[in-house]
Amino acid sequence: MSSPAGAPVTLLVHNAGPLVTVAGSHGSPAGGARQGAVGIVPDGAVAAAGERIVAVGTSAEVLRSVEVAPDAEVIDARGALVLPGFVDPHTHLVYAGERQHEFPRRLRGESYLDILAAGGGILATVEATRRADEATLAELTRSRLDVALAHGTTTMEIKSGYGLDTTSELKQLRAVRRAASGHAIDVVPTFMGAHAVPATAGRDADAYVELVIEEMIPAVAAERLARFCDVFCEHGVFSVEQSRRVLQAGVAAGLRPKLHADELAGGGGAELAAELRAVSADHLVHASEAGIAAMAAEGVLAVLLPGTTFALMGRDYAPARRMVEAGLPVALATDANPGSSPTESMQIILNLACLQLRLSPAEAVVAATLNAAHAVGMADTVGSLEVGKRADLVIYDAPDLDYLAYHYGTNLARRVVAGGRTAWTRTGAA
Ligand code: NIG
Ligand code: FE
Repeated sequence: MSSPAGAPVTLLVHNAGPLVTVAGSHGSPAGGARQGAVGIVPDGAVAAAGERIVAVGTSAEVLRSVEVAPDAEVIDARGALVLPGFVDPHTHLVYAGERQHEFPRRLRGESYLDILAAGGGILATVEATRRADEATLAELTRSRLDVALAHGTTTMEIKSGYGLDTTSELKQLRAVRRAASGHAIDVVPTFMGAHAVPATAGRDADAYVELVIEEMIPAVAAERLARFCDVFCEHGVFSVEQSRRVLQAGVAAGLRPKLHADELAGGGGAELAAELRAVSADHLVHASEAGIAAMAAEGVLAVLLPGTTFALMGRDYAPARRMVEAGLPVALATDANPGSSPTESMQIILNLACLQLRLSPAEAVVAATLNAAHAVGMADTVGSLEVGKRADLVIYDAPDLDYLAYHYGTNLARRVVAGGRTAWTRTGAA
């Protein structure tokens, strides 16, 4: 049982079947053998005063140690599985327009990059996003956040990158701020002006990179609209050299670096992430052995997005097992976006991580909570159920972790608690 309580508690969750805490990592991401260290309390409880957890342990221990405020929320989990809220560390949730019309084309064999080269893909979303005003974008984003919350996500990173001009990129990030304001999900914004070369730039990637560096990054930093800077480092999009320049300019302006690396082909993205000591490199389907080793040595997290490989009908998935063996901490994310990964559900990502990346359910849960929290610089406040952290947790209609990871395609969340209060319940659930 960890720690005593002072003030009366305003939230008590008890009788958790297994309570999965993911605690005890001592501040660093969990790699190698620790990738699967979930920490299970068989009959567990969590108590919070306001937003923060004040006690975690067995139900008997916690009930003995805390005083429950008269108006406290007391939740009997009735033997169900309880986990920390998911942290989704890589999404493109702020956009207008969906791209289901590209789906039959892709099913007939047109590739993702062919559709992009023909002005579709990301560029189609850019057109729709430029046309939408800030309030509309905020509303669209907010309703997607509601869906994510209902599936157990309580912290989420959101990238810009469908504006591709200064005004529209700022509009996207302001819409993120507006959507997040008052929402139960804690949102971490990322600037990703270097997501594609806009058609209006006449395919001159170098000129567009100048605009990102000279105009967009200073404007984003001046308004404090983002914490991270991301770039799509890929053959035919931005080169390693261009990506390095963008990320270095971001660092100089106070934006921590992240990158989309080695997604569709291997191209030195993982090595660049290590060189820059980026917070994370994401995708990594075609990362080299040397790149994986360099990332592990420099403390760069791998954020894997199996939903994207699945939705793009890719044959190869990221080499997750080799990463775990190399001691490289792995995190998971949805990559939620209208093209390559149209889902807000971290539950389906957990399932794909087991079936396709061959992570164990325990490894996948650490990847989707604690390591994901590290990937967005939030591990001091979220990602595990520990005294002092935010009381973000989810009760699932599942008897254990294996069931949550294996039963796919339905929403198993029964109740979502964010910041010490119930933020969502399934209609009819107690
Ligand atoms: O992470 N790789 C680039 N960007 C997104 C896809 C965005 C889109 O297709 O709209 C990704 O897969
Ligand atoms: Fe992405």
